[in-house]
Amino acid sequence: MQAEYLHQYLPLVASTGLVLSPEQRATLQVSLEIVKKNYKFSRVYFWGKILGLTADYFIVIGVETDELRGRKSLYSLNCMDWKLLPPATDEMIERSMRVKGRFMGDPSHEYDTIAVKKSDEEMASLELKVKEEERLTATIEQINREAAIVPRGAFIKTPLEQIHKNRSFGGLSVTEAGKLQSYLHFTEPVILKKKSQLVQANLEDSIDFLNSLEDDELKVFWSLQYERGSKLVILQSLLWLGFNFFHVPETSQYGSIYMGLGERNIDFPFMI
Ligand SMILES: *[C@@H]1O[C@H](CO)[C@@H](O)[C@H](O)[C@H]1NC(C)=O
Repeated sequence: MQAEYLHQYLPLVASTGLVLSPEQRATLQVSLEIVKKNYKFSRVYFWGKILGLTADYFIVIGVETDELRGRKSLYSLNCMDWKLLPPATDEMIERSMRVKGRFMGDPSHEYDTIAVKKSDEEMASLELKVKEEERLTATIEQINREAAIVPRGAFIKTPLEQIHKNRSFGGLSVTEAGKLQSYLHFTEPVILKKKSQLVQANLEDSIDFLNSLEDDELKVFWSLQYERGSKLVILQSLLWLGFNFFHVPETSQYGSIYMGLGERNIDFPFMI
């Protein structure tokens, strides 16, 4: 959720148990302004937190002009001092997936895992070290790929193929807001739809450059419900427990937050 609106937006997901202490909120409000200035971000989002055994990681995302491709993640253990995370590569994600169990809360902690390599004649076990910081960036990226969503129409693709916020976005109607097809994965599409399919399905090139949850093979892993009459829609990921998205229909208010253990609920075959 956009950092400036943290105070306004957090209560909307509070019913799901996701909360920050008043001290944390106050500290974040000040320190995220500083992050925005220091890194020259055009926007800063509070992404959420990953709970560790001895400490929790607070995560923010900063963006420059392209909201999707220019994303940088930073973490902090005290909401005050932020450190830039290296971008997660597919290889890092694959290595990190082998690590099971809770995060420690110590970025320099090294996990020992075993990678089993099968060749024609023999099985070889390789010892593999994974640093917690690497696991952290890999986990954030994976949650972004599988759970980060936006309402349809909230972002546009410019003629220069940049992804920008739609400044005139006025929100989904109450009816649209109740359908999974109205929400798009905010990540590089895995399978790009062909132009002819776009026309057939009555979709638009400049809006539907992202995949909707409706075409999701994991769509059973979303729970959508109306709250406060129908003034608020909450989508929860059952794959990444602790990932909540909200939208206030007919307004430009939406956002998401993750607060959880950083462990996928079910070990699905790795999707890229
Ligand atoms: C931008 O938002 C407006 C108002 O909600 C909507 O009518 C329009 O289709 C959106 N544009 C794109 C390209 O998504």
